[in-house]
Amino acid sequence: MKEKILVTSALPFVNNVPHLGNLVCVVSADVYTRFLRLKKTNVISILGTDEHGTTAEVKALEEGLTPKQLVDKYFKIHTEIYDWFECDYDCYGRSSSKHNHEIAQNIFLKLNKNGFIKQDILEQVYCDKCKKFLADRFVGGTCPHCNYEHARGDQCENCSKLLDAVELINPKCSVCGSKPVVKSTEHLFIDLPKLNPELKKWIKSTEKNWSENAKTMTNAWLKEGLKPRCITRDLKWGIPVPLKGFEKKVFYSWFDAPIGYIGITAECKKDWKSWWHAKDVKLVQFMGKDNIPFHTILFPAFLIGTRDNYTLLNSISVNEYLNYEGGQFSKSRHQGVFGSDAKNIGIPADVWRYYLMVNRPEKTDTHFVWEDFQEKLNNELVANIGNLVNRTITFTNRFFDGKVPMLTKKELNLEKEYKSVEELLDKIELKKALKEIMNISKSANQYFQEKEPWRIIKEDKEKAGNTLANLLIIARDLSVLLTPYIPKTGENIQKQLNLKQQDWSDLGKELGAGQKINKEELLFHKLEDKDLQKFKDEFSGKNNSPFSKLNLKVAKVEDVKPHPNGDNLYILKIDVGEKRQLVAGLRPYYKPEEIKGKSIVVVTNLQPAKLRGEKSEGMLLAAEDRVGKVGLVLANAKPGTQVLVDGAKPGKKEITFNEFLEVKLKAKKGKAYFEKQELKAGKEAVTIDRDVEGKIR
Ligand code: MF3
Ligand code: ZN
Repeated sequence: MKEKILVTSALPFVNNVPHLGNLVCVVSADVYTRFLRLKKTNVISILGTDEHGTTAEVKALEEGLTPKQLVDKYFKIHTEIYDWFECDYDCYGRSSSKHNHEIAQNIFLKLNKNGFIKQDILEQVYCDKCKKFLADRFVGGTCPHCNYEHARGDQCENCSKLLDAVELINPKCSVCGSKPVVKSTEHLFIDLPKLNPELKKWIKSTEKNWSENAKTMTNAWLKEGLKPRCITRDLKWGIPVPLKGFEKKVFYSWFDAPIGYIGITAECKKDWKSWWHAKDVKLVQFMGKDNIPFHTILFPAFLIGTRDNYTLLNSISVNEYLNYEGGQFSKSRHQGVFGSDAKNIGIPADVWRYYLMVNRPEKTDTHFVWEDFQEKLNNELVANIGNLVNRTITFTNRFFDGKVPMLTKKELNLEKEYKSVEELLDKIELKKALKEIMNISKSANQYFQEKEPWRIIKEDKEKAGNTLANLLIIARDLSVLLTPYIPKTGENIQKQLNLKQQDWSDLGKELGAGQKINKEELLFHKLEDKDLQKFKDEFSGKNNSPFSKLNLKVAKVEDVKPHPNGDNLYILKIDVGEKRQLVAGLRPYYKPEEIKGKSIVVVTNLQPAKLRGEKSEGMLLAAEDRVGKVGLVLANAKPGTQVLVDGAKPGKKEITFNEFLEVKLKAKKGKAYFEKQELKAGKEAVTIDRDVEGKIR
């Protein structure tokens, strides 16, 4: 029987605009599927959006939309981006569809009937003002381990400990700011311990087809012991639980999201059961590393527990993360390239696809770096494959009247290399296979150089013709090999060669002598340095970083006097390139002679204020820790020197005190930081007087 392959890509959350890193998984599954189609495999691929969950609800609130309006808005954005990136999925749908509601409820009822659902009490944080239960990360408060005041209910940023929202000291609802309460409610749990023996047996029998990271993480979960896992939530947005007493609850989004693969298939194919209840189907799932246990343990558990012989995961391909230029992608700061940007800046989808696949983060996280992107485009796409195809076709047009010359001897025999590409692709080694393809192109370029057809043509036209005939075959072969990765380019090469759609079985076939080809056309265009710089700036996030609001300068303190009407206050005369007066609350911490003569750092673009009758034209920076110790920020540079983080520009507009507070500066180990960047006066980092770690204001 001919094998059927069912390919899925993790369903992206639909409450944001996907960035290049998010596209890795979606493009990977598309590459693999396109390869199988070229081999005439019976394959279908599934993609769609993951629409339920707290994040969608909270984001909707932020944007002033209903959850439904929110997911509709982002569904459209996602769809346009995947289309633009040439992601050609057979089925594309949404986890909130009617089909998915039915299938998820049905799977739940079966699980319940078969005794795999338990009821239990869950303690949860509830906000009386918002009238809702809060997901862990929408609760803020003080960390019970390290006393950090801005810990989130799921994790403390300061000490990295995992938390449970109910443990936070002084909890606050992050939506409305009021104090939530802890409530106990009945919830439904999937009985993983009861399914454990069957799961283990199944995992043992299939894990040989999994990537290393998938095996490791799954076995770590098993080793820790599976506990019952809550599959219901007290939310309104989601799939209602069809059980008496639980009608007001919905399923946990990680319950209905993977079931969404089935729902989406049902949305688009009448015969969806022949894919999801079948022995002859191989299920191949693509995902990011944070999704592993949901696909290797939970989703299989949901399906096994129905006793309905669902198709279970066979192979899994897990990608690590692609980050941006040494940092993170951030939509709000406009840092990094998002799907919507890629569409707008005039670089074709194939170039992005190529970059994502040749840098595919497989074993470790990788970074998008503009110089690297430029190098791969200019040296690999333009200079290797682009050059080979272009000179082969140009030469044929110029010297052979645009007709395929006679092949007298097959000199370029690369069948072994093609086989190796195929084997790698079968194993979903997408990056390695692509590198192999580029090597094939490189050997063909070398062959062109060695045979010197531009010289030989003058002495022996037939010989030069044979060289070209060999090269034209390789150009066609490359068009096939590259189609999964860069489909438009594959099509374009075949158009220039005047060929109908070629597939895997055409590899190595001869082209008919005398066959007419078309006019040459450049496949790729170089990225010039000036554009590179423009894009780097545009997506650096620096100009939109909150830091760029500040205009900080070095100031020399020339005089210090007590404020006549303020016990805590001094009046400082300073030189910041110009003379100014500041009022500062330093009296409890510093004696006048400890300040006078020092080079401090001043916010120079703060709205001037009158403090107890004395004008204050700016504010000096000082660090304060949790126990109230204070240390001045000092700089070793001339008065008036700008204090910045790398890449930032000084703020030009006047700001209010509150705007200043939004820029979170921190003192750590004697230095001052904005996020992870050091504050510097010229080349030298500024320092903290005294051993104080904490906020800088
Ligand atoms: N929405 C999840 C994410 O973006 C992935 C869900 S995969 C599925 O990480 F299996 F649940 F669909
Ligand atoms: Zn902590």
